[in-house]
Amino acid sequence: MSEPMLEIRKLRKSFPVHNAFGRRTGEVRAVDDVSFAVEKGAVYGLAGESGSGKSTIARMIMGLETPDSGEILINGESLSSRSRGHRRSVQMVFQNPGSSLNPRRTVGQSVTVPLVAHGYSGNRRQRISELLDMVQLPVNFAERYPHELSGGQKQRVAIARALAVEPKLLVLDEPTSALDVSVQGRVIDLLADLGTRMDLTYLFISHDLSLMRNFADTVGVLYRGQIVETGTSSAVFEHPSHDYTRLLLASVPVISKEEEAMRPKIPLIDGEIPTAEKLLALRQADQTASHERGKD
Ligand SMILES: Nc1ncnc2c1ncn2[C@@H]1O[C@H](COP(=O)(O)OP(=O)(O)OP(=O)(O)O)[C@@H](O)[C@H]1O
Ligand SMILES: [Mg+2]
Repeated sequence: MSEPMLEIRKLRKSFPVHNAFGRRTGEVRAVDDVSFAVEKGAVYGLAGESGSGKSTIARMIMGLETPDSGEILINGESLSSRSRGHRRSVQMVFQNPGSSLNPRRTVGQSVTVPLVAHGYSGNRRQRISELLDMVQLPVNFAERYPHELSGGQKQRVAIARALAVEPKLLVLDEPTSALDVSVQGRVIDLLADLGTRMDLTYLFISHDLSLMRNFADTVGVLYRGQIVETGTSSAVFEHPSHDYTRLLLASVPVISKEEEAMRPKIPLIDGEIPTAEKLLALRQADQTASHERGKD
């Protein structure tokens, strides 16, 4: 079998924690001994609640944060030894397209930035048209400014910009969570289509497990900086073996009858996603209650 596109080995990263007076009081283990591999052309889904370490992993893969220890291999080559030429093979799409696009640059100018940075020698105008076409935006959008675009359109521009230098691996950090639900599915469909056409490998980060279930081939569930469950998407979602995965699944909006049957009976608090601790406490209370009822 060929080399995985991305391999993470025993990755660790801690951050200092400061009190209100700026004094260091401890540290948070944001990423705590994480290992996984993503095969070429596959979609690896990284799931986990807020603060579980997803973005820290993404930022280390992008070289925006330095690991305390561990290794990141891109196509078999260690990130630390990667040349600038290799940099372009990994690109990222961020959660908020509003803040990742410069408001003073037209769409065309934004998409040109990576072309210039990587010394693209072809016809830039033509390349921009191609890229806009790829993300299903009209070519005249090149003249528009971000404020003239919807959230979904801005995210398409961010995808076009990421694709400009023909990367092999795309890190998608919550690429749709800032978008209307109605638009999310269409952006994921576009990514899936581009992935197949361009033979891309994806690291897809999301806490929306219903999107992940449809899009990812393999899933890793992150909890407090550690992967607590991993497997094919169908295995993880149909037969979750870890309590935390079941709890995450319990907070997914219902999409099918089977899923409804699978959901533990835990009430949602004001529709927000509760923390694992809160869910565990609720579940224990629920079990105690049904145990009590059983006594009658
Ligand atoms: N630059 C930083 N300085 C200090 N602490 C940080 C920093 N970046 C992340 N952390 C902490 O590391 C932990 C993991 O954060 P991270 O952003 O990776 O989580 P996440 O899973 O991406 O969460 P979310 O779903 O909210 O985006 C959190 O406790 C966070 O507060
Ligand atoms: Mg994050």
